[in-house]
Amino acid sequence: MDHFHYVDGVLHAEDTAISAIARAVGTPVYIYSAATLTRHARVFREALSILPSTHIAFAVKSNPNLAVLKLLAREGYGADVVSAGEMDRALAAGIPAEGVVFSGVGKTADELTRAVKAGIGQFNIESEEEGVELAAIAASLGLVAHAALRVNPDVDAGTHAKISTGMAENKFGVAYDRAAGIYARLSALPGIQMRGLAVHIGSQLSKLDPLEAAFAKMGELMRSIRAQGLSITHMDLGGGIGVPYKADEVFPSPAEYAAMVARVTADWGVTLMFEPGRVIAGNSGVLVTEVVRVKEGVTTPFVIVDAAMNDLARPALYGSWHDFLAVEPNGEKFTANIVGPICESSDTFAMGREIDVVKAGDLAVFRTAGAYGATMANTYNSRALVPEVMVNGDQWAVVANRIDPAAILAAEQVPDWLAD
Ligand code: LLP
Repeated sequence: MDHFHYVDGVLHAEDTAISAIARAVGTPVYIYSAATLTRHARVFREALSILPSTHIAFAVKSNPNLAVLKLLAREGYGADVVSAGEMDRALAAGIPAEGVVFSGVGKTADELTRAVKAGIGQFNIESEEEGVELAAIAASLGLVAHAALRVNPDVDAGTHAKISTGMAENKFGVAYDRAAGIYARLSALPGIQMRGLAVHIGSQLSKLDPLEAAFAKMGELMRSIRAQGLSITHMDLGGGIGVPYKADEVFPSPAEYAAMVARVTADWGVTLMFEPGRVIAGNSGVLVTEVVRVKEGVTTPFVIVDAAMNDLARPALYGSWHDFLAVEPNGEKFTANIVGPICESSDTFAMGREIDVVKAGDLAVFRTAGAYGATMANTYNSRALVPEVMVNGDQWAVVANRIDPAAILAAEQVPDWLAD
């Protein structure tokens, strides 16, 4: 369910015509719907309300825009961050430090220090080495860091290999059969208070079974750790619920997910933590683009748009599908390849796709671009960093400026020994 729909033949974000925003801000531009974000945040939170004690930490990596984080902070969301940069954003958005979870396999000593000083609520540590380092840093500051140990349950998430994280040979977490020993050793250190376990097996999951298998394994591990006399008060179940990118795809609903979690965790007696990203932000955003020209192909025409793989990387990186809709469709369809202007063939959004007929100057959107869209943008081919807009009913605001190639050029300099 989202709030992008046609009104009198023009695609709107809530009550705002997308063409009006494109005229004012230019293209390409991401547009987020505040009503959609709010709705998703509430549906997810309400689904989880059947569980006795929960904390939801939005996966900032999926959409770190400050306005997005602010909206979610108001909905009572914490944040799951994976860098000091994301931590700073979460705090700047008003998310309390104790509601922040710091994940990531490569946190640096500097990041750990800053996060301990900031009073971050939970460190999800991904190795014994990191736990030892965190304990030493916190102890040297006279502080205690609360931590969970991320465990790799060796479960196949059944998703794209590049976004699968829970198999034995993945870099994430510690091996399942070593986890109890590591937990015990870390629990004995000053400066760290081990309070639970964390798991995240992958993203864009279309089935609950792998999650259920992983959670059940985590429950067994929790019991064996408690049997050693150690305390577990928090279990972080990660994120990963997928969203439909095509009209006919069906994904587990938050309610089905919550029912599964309730069943598996019924006797755990912990605060359950969640790190959803895509399910909250995914279909809250679109990427608006203008057609540069339509070029004849040998068999299929090329629709060349002014958005490219630097603005929306997912199709080039993972072969992902994003629906393409004309902002003012004339009712006719044709089969075309949709490509961006970047000088490599991977800058392709779709091949041989049946789409609305478009011509040079027409506006179109790539749908379901609210998660892992703008956040993965870069400036390859010296293109601008794409701007972002948030719509709220008939109001809208630029929530991230376009960063022009000139500003990026201005941050570079030629060393003296190369100057004329
Ligand atoms: N927690 C952890 C530890 C994660 O690594 C991730 C995502 C999440 C939570 C949020 O997962 P979600 O609920 O959004 O599935 N760039 C890729 C997705 C990478 C996901 C990385 N980790 C894409 O565009 O599909």
